[in-house]
Amino acid sequence: DWTMAAYRDEQIAKIREQVGDAKVICGLSGGVDSSVAAVLIHEAIGDQLTCVFVDTGLLRKDEATQVTTLFREHYNIPLVHVDASKEFLGELAGISDPETKRKTIGRVFIEIFDREAGKIEGAEFLAQGTLYPDVIESVSASGGPSAVIKSHHNVGGLPDFMKLKLVEPLRELFKDEVRALGRELGLTDAFVGRHPFPGPGLAIRIPGEITPDAVATLQDADAIYLEEIRKAGLYDDIWQAFAVLLPVKTVGVMGDARTYEKVLALRAVTSTDGMTADFYQFPWDVLAKTATRIINEVRGVNRVVYDVTSKPPGTIEWE
Ligand code: XMP
Repeated sequence: DWTMAAYRDEQIAKIREQVGDAKVICGLSGGVDSSVAAVLIHEAIGDQLTCVFVDTGLLRKDEATQVTTLFREHYNIPLVHVDASKEFLGELAGISDPETKRKTIGRVFIEIFDREAGKIEGAEFLAQGTLYPDVIESVSASGGPSAVIKSHHNVGGLPDFMKLKLVEPLRELFKDEVRALGRELGLTDAFVGRHPFPGPGLAIRIPGEITPDAVATLQDADAIYLEEIRKAGLYDDIWQAFAVLLPVKTVGVMGDARTYEKVLALRAVTSTDGMTADFYQFPWDVLAKTATRIINEVRGVNRVVYDVTSKPPGTIEWE
């Protein structure tokens, strides 16, 4: 793509000019936007960049490993991987209200990010994968640490990393352009084509209280769902697909015994920007295969339902 190649070169020159020989910290979320921003900035300034990946333990199954492997082994980008799942799950214990979940995750994220960023001496810049839709303040699944802050007004005092100057090389781009730029930078189609994923992660896909067991159950079911979607060749037709673990138990039969286990809801939508969405009209066999596999392979789930609500009036997420 000639245009994107030119854009990439232009942005690399701009980043070099803005940053000079200063150090840059990039908050990596595991998603496409911050990854593309990090790879672009690394092309521009090499080891002046350090990425900080705060792993909430609320990502999809194996996603944290995929991201750290890509950065460390493939790109050789300096990366601080903070496994903070115990801290997040501890702080979330007993919380059911969706907005309280978001605020708690935002607060803990900021505390941990600030602590880790503070260890990188002499950093002058904070890089983020802010996109144009974030700039114009529409709903978006992206947003780095300072985007988190903007949505949490009750944080007392400004953390130190907020005093850093911002580097936001994706500010002019829409999601599909970020994907094209990512490909231009050598990221694979599978990597840049990944569905958007919300900052609070699986926490808002477990209505009610979040427990380590519930997270593990959801990760396993979600992984099977995505695997079946990919096998059917439908992944790229869908804007977002994910599972939701409901706090509802229903009766089932297994052999000659009754079971009493949780319900799992499957969600898939098409959209261009997440602002409006239509539920995805799956071929039935894909849903049937997914449901059978989840009930057979995932402990604690004995019923699977499909969400046929579009947005509006529904939202994409359940919380
Ligand atoms: P809704 O559920 O509002 O979702 O229709 C629209 C888009 O936004 C994502 N989303 C979030 N992203 N933090 C995020 O970073 C959040 O708290 C959040 N809530 C929803 C959602 O995944 C969808 O892409």
